[in-house]
Amino acid sequence: MSHSLVTMSYIIATILFILSLSGLSKQETARKGNYYGMLGMAIAIAATALSGYVTSYEVLLGALVVGGAIGARAAIKVEMTQMPELVAIMHSLVGMAAVLVGYANFLDVSHPLIGVEKTIHEVEIYIGILIGAVTFSGSVIAFCKLSEKISGKPLLLPGRHWFNLLLLIAAVALAGVFLQQSENGSAIVPLAIMTGIALIFGIHMVMAIGGADMPVVVSMLNSYSGWAAAATGFMLSNDLLIVTGALVGSSGAILSYIMCRAMNRNFISVIAGGFGAAAGGEAAVIEGEVQPIDADETAQLLLEAKNIMIIPGYGMAVAQAQHTVNEITKLLKEKGKKVGFGIHPVAGRMPGHMNVLLAEAKVPYDIVYEMDEINEDWAHVDVSIVIGANDIVNPSALDDPNSPIAGMPVLECWKGGTTIVLKRSMASGYAGVGNPLFVLENTRMLFGDANATMQAVLKALKG
Ligand code: TAP
Repeated sequence: MSHSLVTMSYIIATILFILSLSGLSKQETARKGNYYGMLGMAIAIAATALSGYVTSYEVLLGALVVGGAIGARAAIKVEMTQMPELVAIMHSLVGMAAVLVGYANFLDVSHPLIGVEKTIHEVEIYIGILIGAVTFSGSVIAFCKLSEKISGKPLLLPGRHWFNLLLLIAAVALAGVFLQQSENGSAIVPLAIMTGIALIFGIHMVMAIGGADMPVVVSMLNSYSGWAAAATGFMLSNDLLIVTGALVGSSGAILSYIMCRAMNRNFISVIAGGFGAAAGGEAAVIEGEVQPIDADETAQLLLEAKNIMIIPGYGMAVAQAQHTVNEITKLLKEKGKKVGFGIHPVAGRMPGHMNVLLAEAKVPYDIVYEMDEINEDWAHVDVSIVIGANDIVNPSALDDPNSPIAGMPVLECWKGGTTIVLKRSMASGYAGVGNPLFVLENTRMLFGDANATMQAVLKALKG
């Protein structure tokens, strides 16, 4: 394939990636966005394979088959609830690839460079390995936290900010040593030490971020993986990889910022760590009587209500209750009720988690509202049903300054009529804090697996 044809293909792939991102920003066009992305990637792979740089098609084909098989198996096997972990571990692979490409470039002496070009190339290698190693180790820790292989609580070492600063200064100082020693062939030593430092930094950074701030970590590592890919693009002089990496890096950074705003957190403070921890004293202990309710009584309350708000959370994903919830919604609407869905920006375990579930169950988009849209309007809601949500409806976020989720905006359903909470027990949610909503005067608890209880409510409504 001629050079201009390759460039042309790369431009087309870039445009398709941009269209993909814009498609993915709205539920109605998300499917189309995915198709654009797939087509762009197919063009990118084909153009790169035919660009004349490939020396062994056997190796390329082998890598495609093995990588494709692992990806396909993961996509088929993974449960919706495990998606965030899958995404985290995928980010770690991007980071590892950047590190490996960096070392391969460093050790490759087949294209000797001189002067400024050599220095630029070495800086690219250094930065690529640095970002790649932070992304790799940070993503592995995020994976372990999200899959509950290690505790989600923040690890707050004394003087952790100084420790981070020390690591940063060491990494910058080692860059100078690396560039100096590249003449006499011993530059691998500072490079290896820096890699170790970057790995420790990634581990320490994510270990220090706790509980309810994990959404920001997930999107931040997404952004890092983009920058790692862009750095790899510089090392390999591949324009498409640079552009694609920059797209992922900047969209991940914007998403992290949006998540921080949604959580009422300062972006820099979250990255510096320690924001999942209580600010000062002990969080308040929840005291009071819970008022249980059964499926028949729930159905009765729904039949008496005019305006119903459904608040889905992580438990709806676990129970896979979205289809039953959709059935109930259709039935209530047929009975003349106004039914809406209130979506918290960090409900579930990944950005857009609830929207994906509701779209899968074919809930119409026009009755799905964002938190800001409905927080003004609770006075008009007669009954709200909280399905497997906990942290996102916790009033202590607003009135207990010692709570680990203090300051996070929540869906203030207690300001409406009756709130019915569906969950299996009195267990806490992701942030590990008690929820005073459960003992409020106008709250009723419907205990059990959300799908089973929703099925029972559906039966009672039909009966
Ligand atoms: P959580 O606060 O985690 O609460 C989920 C609740 O669902 C639990 O209290 C659990 O109680 C219940 N549950 C679990 N399985 C259930 C089942 N089969 N049937 C019925 N209930 C079930 O979820 P949330 O309210 O959606 O809040 C999200 C939390 O995750 C926030 O703290 C957020 O910061 C964090 N987080 C979010 C993300 C993103 S990007 N969205 C990423 C990482 C972390 P029982 O065990 O008693 O049933």
